[in-house]
Amino acid sequence: MTKVGVLASGRGSNLGALLEQQRLGALGGEVVVVLTNRPDAPVVEVASKYDVPLCTIADPRGQTDASVLLKGHGVELVVLAGYDRILASEFVREWEGRMINIHPSLLPAFGGGLHAVRDALAYGVKATGCTVHFVTEDVDAGPIISQAAVPVLPDDDEARLAKRIREKEHQLLPEAVRAYAEGRLTVVGRRVVIEGSA
Ligand code: GRF
Repeated sequence: MTKVGVLASGRGSNLGALLEQQRLGALGGEVVVVLTNRPDAPVVEVASKYDVPLCTIADPRGQTDASVLLKGHGVELVVLAGYDRILASEFVREWEGRMINIHPSLLPAFGGGLHAVRDALAYGVKATGCTVHFVTEDVDAGPIISQAAVPVLPDDDEARLAKRIREKEHQLLPEAVRAYAEGRLTVVGRRVVIEGSA
């Protein structure tokens, strides 16, 4: 079982999706610790509901305590599931190839910011979606593992569109963790080859 550490700052719905798949025996990994920089965020309740240890990190960029905590729990894969801070270069380098992120747009469109859904709506795109990618020092620019498209509907507002994107995220992220845990991901330059996928 691949030991997974999750960094999250907000609602925690992606953490919930991971833990639900774990409960069903379908994650291929085990979430052993959740790290948050926001101890008041709803994600804290999600961790507690599933009895996963949660630690608040004092340094949200991961320069001091985050790696120590992750290593202390034996973490092999780090998942950024709605983590709202840019991590320090040293942290990213240390976990490179072993850290993935979920982003609410079809990268490289609308990367680099905190309002990808709002930005996609404002731009007037007809489709957006979500992306799971390896984390590199260039924000939202690492090799793409998987993407799912979501159409923008004429009466969409940010909340409605974000909700439909989240529903896709809840499938995409656990699938990516499972593929990683099963050793089916190979990075070849910018491309990620997923063994067993069409
Ligand atoms: C998701 O939309 C994810 O793509 C982005 O932050 C949001 C987190 O949502 N990085 P939640 O906290 O998992 O509900």
